[in-house]
Amino acid sequence: MEKLSTDTINLIREKSDIVEIISSYIPLTPRGKNYFGVCPFHDDNHPSMSVSKEKQIYKCFSCGATGNVFTFVSEYENISFIEAVQMLADKAGIPIQGNYQKTKPKEDPVLYEIYELSSKFYQNNVNTKEGREAREYLKQRQIDEQVIKEFGIGLSLKDNKMLSKLLVSKGYSDKNLEKCALLVKRDYQYSDLYYNRVMFPLWNLSGQVVGFSGRIYNSEDPSKYINSRETEIFKKGELLYNYHRAKIEARKKGTIIVMEGFMDVIRAYTIGITNVVATMGTAVTKGQAQLLKKMARDIILCFDGDEAGAKATFACADILLEMGVTPKIVRLENNMDPDDFIKKNGKESFLSRLDNPITIMDFKLNYLKKDKDLTSTDDMAKYVSAMLEELSRIEDVVVRELTLKKMSEESKLDFTFLKDQLTDKLKEVVPKEILLPKKVSTKKNRYQMAEQNLLYYMLCDTEVIKIYMQEKPFLPRDTSRMLALEIVHYYKENSKIELADIISLVSEQKEVATLLQEILLLPLNDIYKKEEILDYCKVIRDYNVNYEMNRLKKKLTEETNIEEKTKIAEQIVQLKKGELI
Ligand code: UTP
Ligand code: MN
Repeated sequence: MEKLSTDTINLIREKSDIVEIISSYIPLTPRGKNYFGVCPFHDDNHPSMSVSKEKQIYKCFSCGATGNVFTFVSEYENISFIEAVQMLADKAGIPIQGNYQKTKPKEDPVLYEIYELSSKFYQNNVNTKEGREAREYLKQRQIDEQVIKEFGIGLSLKDNKMLSKLLVSKGYSDKNLEKCALLVKRDYQYSDLYYNRVMFPLWNLSGQVVGFSGRIYNSEDPSKYINSRETEIFKKGELLYNYHRAKIEARKKGTIIVMEGFMDVIRAYTIGITNVVATMGTAVTKGQAQLLKKMARDIILCFDGDEAGAKATFACADILLEMGVTPKIVRLENNMDPDDFIKKNGKESFLSRLDNPITIMDFKLNYLKKDKDLTSTDDMAKYVSAMLEELSRIEDVVVRELTLKKMSEESKLDFTFLKDQLTDKLKEVVPKEILLPKKVSTKKNRYQMAEQNLLYYMLCDTEVIKIYMQEKPFLPRDTSRMLALEIVHYYKENSKIELADIISLVSEQKEVATLLQEILLLPLNDIYKKEEILDYCKVIRDYNVNYEMNRLKKKLTEETNIEEKTKIAEQIVQLKKGELI
């Protein structure tokens, strides 16, 4: 994909007034300098989102959503940043050459048409005379008519020529009939892939039918479900069952619930749970995890209660953890899946499960000791070392501490011993900034405050950028340094500072974008004194000196070679005199 020039993106932004654009999605009321509206990114009915015409940004004081006109549209429409740019360029009448949409393969519109038609055909069959048994099956599974409609549930008949005849009669070409994966060709004759099965349509992300899963209902057949094979419009690993409906609900509630089977999702709907999707029994892919991450802040994994479900939970949780999301877990007992559980225990009981999920570490504690005999030293050792491994991969210090406590009680091993073991393990792994919990709840220290405040004011006033360029404080955090660099670069290019453009600039750099959001939410006003800025620079410098001092002191105690020791001592003296940094 070609890259749009920064200048063009900035121009499109200038021509897309944020108040006007956001007003087209949600009502805004002017109050003072700003506009206010009900934030669409979390469940609320108070006007907690403010939109600044002057700065061309929005902020929600409740959920912390912030950004410029592009990020708003991209979040709201669930499209990529560049697609939002494209959309607003069209709206503003700014022609941009080339296609900057996410490059989708050119798909055949005929395939969608065939699936749409087939789905209608299957749905219609349910209500015919031949559909009686299927209707009974659905009734016995407590799937009522409204749910059948909502989920487009259909039926393929015993006669395995019905759909073939229909599609052939519509005049579709041989090529398309073969491509659609709904028919089987034998001896130059078409017959239906699906017959005598209850048909569940599968949708792509925008809600078009692109595949089916057909379930046996009145016969013995080793394959309970038959799924469509992959076609150019159906890629199982890229979609989640019910995504297009759940997306809006998940956003409103701030939570997405993930299940394994689509029957589980359908059952959840019958008790009013709508922010739910299914992975459809396969291992969760990176693409699916990405989708989940975009859907809501909180992710609850509620897989089947059996061993396979536990395994799938473990795998899915790890993919999410790697992406910086910490899911919560609901485990169901007696090998039940959500469908069984809801039918057996009812709505309230299931809702209370969802309200009380366990943390990922508690899940892992249980999982890893499941087939171990903890009275055996060998098994206990294996268990403890596996848990330490898991703990070394999360960043939340509180969870680490709490889990270590539990492990110490269980294993009768000394807490400090376990902690030392973990510390050793942590030295082996490279810390990942992405793994930091999204909302850093720990109080910021003086240095972090200084760093963030400094960046905040750099975004407000070019005078502060000039001070920064003069003082050159070295920001120890990579992300902060990167943001400062972007600001300085923008200033040098444009001789001004435009916060909304900086948001565009860092939109593709996940960590920097997150930091910027955090900074925008700082409760500061735009008035500052020069001494204040100089003080921030000094705090940062002191921090660096301190850090280096500690490093050298540690090195000094560890060093055994006398000559090296002297060298380090000299460095310490120099540092004390302020000569090294
Ligand atoms: P399950 O076997 O847990 O399905 O498989 P379920 O939801 O409990 O189904 P019912 O209650 O027996 O009707 C979970 C998912 O795995 C896929 C399906 O997508 C299903 O939703 N699956 C399962 C298959 O593709 N083929 C199979 O034979 C079984
Ligand atoms: Mn089931």
